[in-house]
Amino acid sequence: MTATLPPGPSAPPVVQTLRWLVRPIAFLESCRRQFGDSFSVSFLGFETPMVMLSDPGAIRALYSVPEHGLPPGRTIALRPMLGPRSVLLLEGREHLARRRLMLPPFHGERMRAYESIVREATAREVARWPAGEPFAIHPCMQRVTLEVILRAVFGVTDETRRGRLAERLSDLLARTSSPSLQFGVLLSRRLGGPDPLAALRSLREGIDALLEEEIAERRADPRADILSLLIGARFEDGGALDDAEIRDQLMTLLVAGHETTATGLAWTFDLLLRNPAVLARLPGADDDYVHAVVSESLRLRPVVPLAGRRLSAELRVNGSALPAGTDVTPAIWLAHTRPDRYPEPYAFRPERFLDGASPGFAWVPFGGGVRRCLGAAFAEMEMRVVLGEVLRLRALRPASPRAEHVARRNVTFSPARGTRVIALPRT
Ligand code: HEM
Repeated sequence: MTATLPPGPSAPPVVQTLRWLVRPIAFLESCRRQFGDSFSVSFLGFETPMVMLSDPGAIRALYSVPEHGLPPGRTIALRPMLGPRSVLLLEGREHLARRRLMLPPFHGERMRAYESIVREATAREVARWPAGEPFAIHPCMQRVTLEVILRAVFGVTDETRRGRLAERLSDLLARTSSPSLQFGVLLSRRLGGPDPLAALRSLREGIDALLEEEIAERRADPRADILSLLIGARFEDGGALDDAEIRDQLMTLLVAGHETTATGLAWTFDLLLRNPAVLARLPGADDDYVHAVVSESLRLRPVVPLAGRRLSAELRVNGSALPAGTDVTPAIWLAHTRPDRYPEPYAFRPERFLDGASPGFAWVPFGGGVRRCLGAAFAEMEMRVVLGEVLRLRALRPASPRAEHVARRNVTFSPARGTRVIALPRT
């Protein structure tokens, strides 16, 4: 079966895995130089190679078949935290039913309703920043995006409750993303023994109890937050989400939407600090320009490097026929840095996104097709508003002359040192 897969590096899986973990960009670029638009890599723990694509036509072909399955490993890693009915983990008809129900609350035009929440959360965070002292902006962005989710999505208006949830959720997220816990989970699956996730159970139960209170309150008194909209939403057969499932979807939105958006913002600031002409133009710029800055940042520093599928049927790309069952993913970094689609692909040029032409499947920071990011419009709104507000309140300078390296952090590409900046109040 592997005979029809495109060629790829011949190093043993352990070497390929280490290269991906430690120097992902160098690994991807060297595969592109050697093998071109598509290639097969072998990672430890995967039984078959994974095919990576970077040609927009091939990516379109992959994403236009709704029947393809989830990429391997997603369910094992996320199910304990998200729960069995998370939209991120279901497939087929069950997945589609939830997509249909959850899409309207995330529709682009609704997003204006949340701008003031984002502005307030940003202003509150910026007020804590030291003047003239270097600090890493990534953790600041994590606090902002967590607060925004708790207010706009969960609808928690009470500050004490929000503080309590924020503290426990940050704790849970930090503990579940620690490499030693992930390694422990893999080890206990292989060798048996105590489940390292058991230690997290009481933390999870505490969070669930707080979420149940919020769900009950919103049922009694619906508001404009996304939780209220989910409570009021109906499946095509008229049924509604029950409390246990609402909890799963809230945790899903938190996990999918918090770290990703914070990382996207940290990258945007890093790119701006290295491109002073764009930075200087931003304060007071119109929404279209700020939006173009966000699009260009997500192009040049895609936060999520892979968004793959397991093929449900043969896929023909770049002269090969990939058989059903193959794991295939766009290599998003490579798709975004094609010189035939983006002249001078490594230059940061928001103007690329101002002529109104759609980049199609050469721009896939949010994946595509029937599993495309549900929160894309939310994330773009949030990034645009945070950028505008930070730069209205503070003038930023780089704390280091060197641009950030790409470090892999869980499933994201993240700035290695957290984007260190110096901020001064604007006079
Ligand atoms: C810059 C920020 C973000 C990035 C880069 C991002 C990226 C992605 C990617 C690559 C996927 C997988 C798509 C695929 O497999 O085709 C995804 C799925 C998803 N994202 Fe996002 N995301 C971001 C922010 C958000 C936010 C703010 C939310 C919600 C508040 C969110 C909710 C989701 C959900 C629910 C899914 C699962 C969709 C499904 O399986 O049907 N994301 N995201």
